[in-house]
Amino acid sequence: MRSTLRPGAVGSAVRRGLVAAAVLALGSTAAVATATSANAAVACKVDYSANEWQGGMSVNLTIQNLGDALNGWTLTFTFPNSSQRVTQGWSATWNQSGNTVTATALDWNRSLPTGGSTNIGFNGSWSGSNPTPTDFKINGVACNGTPQSPSPSPTVSPSVPQSPSPSPSPSVSPSVPQSPTPSPSTSPQQPGQRVDNPYDGADGYVNPDWSASAASEPGGSAVANESTGVWIDRIAAITGGSAGNNSMGVREHLDEAVRQDAANGSKPLTIQFVIYNLPNRDCSALASNGELKISENGLARYKSEYIDVIADIMSDPKYSQLRIVNIIEIDSLPNLVTNTNIPACAEAKNTGAYVQGVQYALDKFSAIPNVYNYIDAGHHGWLGWDSNFGPSAELFASTVRGTAKGFNSVTGFITNTANYSALQEPFFNANTTVNGQTVRQSKWVDWNWYVDELSFAQAFRTKLISLGFPNSIGMLIDTSRNGWGGPNRPTAASTSTDVNTFVNESRVDRRIHAGNWCNQSGAGLGERPKANPAPGIDAYVWIKPPGESDGSSSAIDNDEGKGFDRMCDPTYTGNERNGNNLTGALPNAPVSGHWFSAQFRELLANAYPPLS
Ligand code: GLC
Repeated sequence: MRSTLRPGAVGSAVRRGLVAAAVLALGSTAAVATATSANAAVACKVDYSANEWQGGMSVNLTIQNLGDALNGWTLTFTFPNSSQRVTQGWSATWNQSGNTVTATALDWNRSLPTGGSTNIGFNGSWSGSNPTPTDFKINGVACNGTPQSPSPSPTVSPSVPQSPSPSPSPSVSPSVPQSPTPSPSTSPQQPGQRVDNPYDGADGYVNPDWSASAASEPGGSAVANESTGVWIDRIAAITGGSAGNNSMGVREHLDEAVRQDAANGSKPLTIQFVIYNLPNRDCSALASNGELKISENGLARYKSEYIDVIADIMSDPKYSQLRIVNIIEIDSLPNLVTNTNIPACAEAKNTGAYVQGVQYALDKFSAIPNVYNYIDAGHHGWLGWDSNFGPSAELFASTVRGTAKGFNSVTGFITNTANYSALQEPFFNANTTVNGQTVRQSKWVDWNWYVDELSFAQAFRTKLISLGFPNSIGMLIDTSRNGWGGPNRPTAASTSTDVNTFVNESRVDRRIHAGNWCNQSGAGLGERPKANPAPGIDAYVWIKPPGESDGSSSAIDNDEGKGFDRMCDPTYTGNERNGNNLTGALPNAPVSGHWFSAQFRELLANAYPPLS
């Protein structure tokens, strides 16, 4: 699976170009610069994305300022149907009079620079029909034409220090108080009782399918009892018997989890599923493309044939004592921030399919008391730059606000899923300087604000909390393949005074380029799964099952929708996303998700911490 370093996250020139493109390429409705009489030219564009069900809706709006900078704004629009009502809103002060809806900026989002945008939203009700409003106006001026020229430039450049996060909120307008966050559990816990951190004090489910594959390899029994993620990577995987490495269906896994739970005494058991089947899946890469397409009714099928079916199984009372963790849709939402130049991602954004799919999954799963949702949040080598960090966090916030339970529909976020980013670089951090030069200017770091995954995950959590998520959210880090031990691991900081040489000799992440993501040569197993390993981190987890391929090294026919991504071909000399470097992928790899013995053996050999 997993393309990781995305175009939007590579070299600064590329990044800038894509940010600007994203501003221009937005959405279906056009925008215009309208000269107003006095001074400021108001030009705007509003995206209205409704997640609806019989009688109800949850709507996310993105307001984009394509005109002069605004300091204070009021959005108005008219519901076409008189039954349509705003019942609760966020990130603005909402009012409705007759069919006319007004949303006025709060202090923290009243200033909108040229090219800036903000996300607001509301929950509402309707009967009969629920048509989309079309007459959006900002400060009385219609948002309905073509963009102003010259095109807005990106607001953040990589060389500019990161600005402090915007002052937190109120993210919900005072008139519509949000339900309180659940308070941390009190001990002793009852079996099945909802807790703050589902990994705390629990054993992890051992997937018999994966365990058998691991144990069949020389030395593999050393880790065959670790807990790994169960990927529900297509509709057929729900009932099981699917190709690839997984033969058991969701019920079989849960039945087996109940058995493991009964066998381990009084300790609770945590089982981790990966919800991974959005339409246009893996939209910026090819190796993990999936079975559903937006243009083929994929969102409706995702809801009814996938999420509904899984939620139905998970809500069976016989599983109510288990702690079920759902990892929600790897690599999805940030692609709407960084990769809208790719048609499949643009479609995912413009149709709202990713946002609505994720909201639907969160709504269904958060209704089950013993299910804990963690949303995938990329990794530092993708989102660690300002241009990607803040907008991704904001998209997560607006998406989650639009769910029925709002911020209470998630337990936290996961980073580094199926990626190889080192957990910690022991010999330098983002503030290290060499001969007066920051390591951030090295080719390897490329102005990223983070040099490793732990620092990124902690900072991203802080950012999310600043946007309104409760303090109780925790992060997971996938450490299944980021160990980077073995003979090539540096044992001390370099003594070079050249910043590039220093970083290259000191870094434990031995990839050719941080944008490489497929079957990386030289990688090892990382930290074994464990709860509460560091502040803000709920657990280190093994979500990508070590030994399962990221993608085939050459084109292989398959019935899973998987494509051939040349980032998995060791002879490919790369593209702008990995600085035109070799891919570092191991040769002779099978289709993503299938067992790849040679990779598993290398992961064992290069484990860090080493296997005892
Ligand atoms: C990749 C594959 C998927 C598999 C997963 C875990 O994402 O596309 O089929 O289940 O990796 O190995």
